[in-house]
Amino acid sequence: MPSGRDGLYVMLLSIHGLVRWNEPELGRDSDTGGQVKYVLELLDNLALHEKVDRAELITRQVFDKRVSDDYSVKEELTDNGGIISRLPFGPSRYLKKERFWPYLDTLVENLLRHIKSVGRVPDIIHAHYADAGFVGSQLSHYVGVPLIFTGHSLGHDKLRTLLEKGVSKDEADKTYNINRRIKAEETALRFAKAVVTSTKQEATAQYGDYQNFRPKKIHVMPPGVYLDKFFKYKGPVKKLSVYDKVARFLDEPDKPAVLAISRADEKKNITTLLDAYGQNKALQEAANLIIVAGNREDIAEMPSGARKVLSDMLRKIDKYDLYGKVAYPKKHQSEQVVEFYQLAERLNGVFVNPALVEPFGLTILEATATGIPVVATNDGGPTEILGNCKNGLLVNPTDAEAMGNAILKGVTDKKLHRQWSKAGLTNIYKFYTWKGHVQKYVRLVEKIKNIDRKGYYTMKSAKRITGVNRMLVTDIDNTLLGCDEALERFIQFYNEYHDKFVFCVATGRSLSSARDVLKEKGVPTPDIFITSVGSEIYYTSELKDDSLWATHIGEDWKPEKIKAIMKDIVGVTPQPSSGQRKHKISYFYDEKKFLGTKKLTKIFQDADIKAKIIISHQQYLDILPVRASKGLAVKAVAFRWDIPFENILVAGDSGNDIDMLNGTIPGVAVGNYSEELEKLKGRENVYFSEKDYADGILDGVKYYEFIK
Ligand code: GLC
Ligand code: MG
Repeated sequence: MPSGRDGLYVMLLSIHGLVRWNEPELGRDSDTGGQVKYVLELLDNLALHEKVDRAELITRQVFDKRVSDDYSVKEELTDNGGIISRLPFGPSRYLKKERFWPYLDTLVENLLRHIKSVGRVPDIIHAHYADAGFVGSQLSHYVGVPLIFTGHSLGHDKLRTLLEKGVSKDEADKTYNINRRIKAEETALRFAKAVVTSTKQEATAQYGDYQNFRPKKIHVMPPGVYLDKFFKYKGPVKKLSVYDKVARFLDEPDKPAVLAISRADEKKNITTLLDAYGQNKALQEAANLIIVAGNREDIAEMPSGARKVLSDMLRKIDKYDLYGKVAYPKKHQSEQVVEFYQLAERLNGVFVNPALVEPFGLTILEATATGIPVVATNDGGPTEILGNCKNGLLVNPTDAEAMGNAILKGVTDKKLHRQWSKAGLTNIYKFYTWKGHVQKYVRLVEKIKNIDRKGYYTMKSAKRITGVNRMLVTDIDNTLLGCDEALERFIQFYNEYHDKFVFCVATGRSLSSARDVLKEKGVPTPDIFITSVGSEIYYTSELKDDSLWATHIGEDWKPEKIKAIMKDIVGVTPQPSSGQRKHKISYFYDEKKFLGTKKLTKIFQDADIKAKIIISHQQYLDILPVRASKGLAVKAVAFRWDIPFENILVAGDSGNDIDMLNGTIPGVAVGNYSEELEKLKGRENVYFSEKDYADGILDGVKYYEFIK
């Protein structure tokens, strides 16, 4: 890795399951499987690439007695210097991924702080699976970094399988949160500049279900296999540590071996393999069967799915009376997995992957790398792998007879066996190394990184967030604007010092109206727009709104009910449609006729309406969700960018500025302030300037020594 900052910073997001470099617990539960292995290996190999100087994998920090302490450690390094960073979100205990949804916004916030603490914005964010896809879409939006998405498995597919099994749509959603997941996948596909898949079939057949699917974004890059770990073994079989584990089951342990390795999961279809073997006498004559289906203590205590698979397996062995012919070792270390392949290869066997569906089929690559021929299901991944490697046969996974015959051919046709073994060993180097994968990957990153840095994204310069620690927030009407000479002086100040602070406006106007008036007056474009009295937040230069904020404030918002009640209130008239927003209902009020905010608040309370009523300039009346206001929006922005409150200065003149002025953030009320601010006199954090309009802001800058 280059030591400077010229190289790439690649951030991978893979947030579920148990993720650690040192002895990953692959197969321990359904969240800790192929994806975890994939991201760990991608991470480690990215770290090796000469153009990458920070390869980082973000995952979840877990504090839970039921799992190892390793998952609570903030940072872990891979052998080649990849960084695993664990960030907390939601409860600290270990959670199933289906339970993540309410907490993902927090992760976005934590990631922004993390980026700030690293002191550097990633060049690319690569999100894995729907949950991280959601987080990555938000994050890429805020920091102006392009996104890559890899679904690994997709919600539409899962839903289809569940429906086929007779599960209802409602049930599927309740147990698996399928709708949230599909929505997140749609968002990720829309935001992503590229979608990386392992196979072509996955690209067309699975992503094709999505509205935001664009074939042009797809890049097929199969993962690699560790060829220094998975290789052809040349020594005697008895020297392999797994030999004894297997031999104790078998009458003739040195016969050819048919090997299957998978999780004890129904999808993996071990039972059909047992039927294939059990019903084929010639095959039983020719070979033993070895089934490695994870580790087990006591089957009775395993999760119901695994329990069923393992009991079915034992039942089939009994039914076909396969004693002495089938081995199903109870336990092994993860480093020993390779030896099972090597053992079966030395015994001139074949490897079988009978899974009902197989999006990729990493075990097939591992087998191929040790030189053992393969019989595999004729689904997506295996079709492409065997197409490239030319080292075996594809079978229909539901046809036990055909499966048995294919395996028999593999173990008895010696010439074919040799030919397959050789082809596999040659072709795996051509198609399935991490080195090749990462080379393609970095080329892709370099391509999309440049497109985006042309300003496609939101913040004017992502550098500002990490480099700048101060923020000036000002109201527009009657604060920033109102006196042209004062504004002139403000712009001079801006030009001289704007490198030192984030410039933010907070206004009652809508975005377009704010933008228009600032343009007209020659005010430089702010970095952040808080508009419609704090109910909307936008970031330049594309001015995309902060949808997290909208979701946050939108809870419990009942605009129709409010409008209905307001119809009967005397002395108020609705503002024109330009003043009405999704989270802001606005009126003009007549001081003489209007009953006042206190009484209106009571009416709302009685009607069980939660809303905020704000009056300004003795003529405007705004109704907002309780969580919306200029002050709360300023705090949300400050929190998001980790700007300490004491480094912020807010300036305003009227009622809708009150809550940003009366908190812990230093504030200045300009000299021409309106009556509503009178009650803030004497408050510690409000400086009442003698100077009017923008001169008042500059006076505040001096008073608080805002520029150090
Ligand atoms: C701006 C808005 C208006 C709002 C007022 C007070 O003038 O256009 O809708 O009522 O500010 O917040
Ligand atoms: Mg104002």
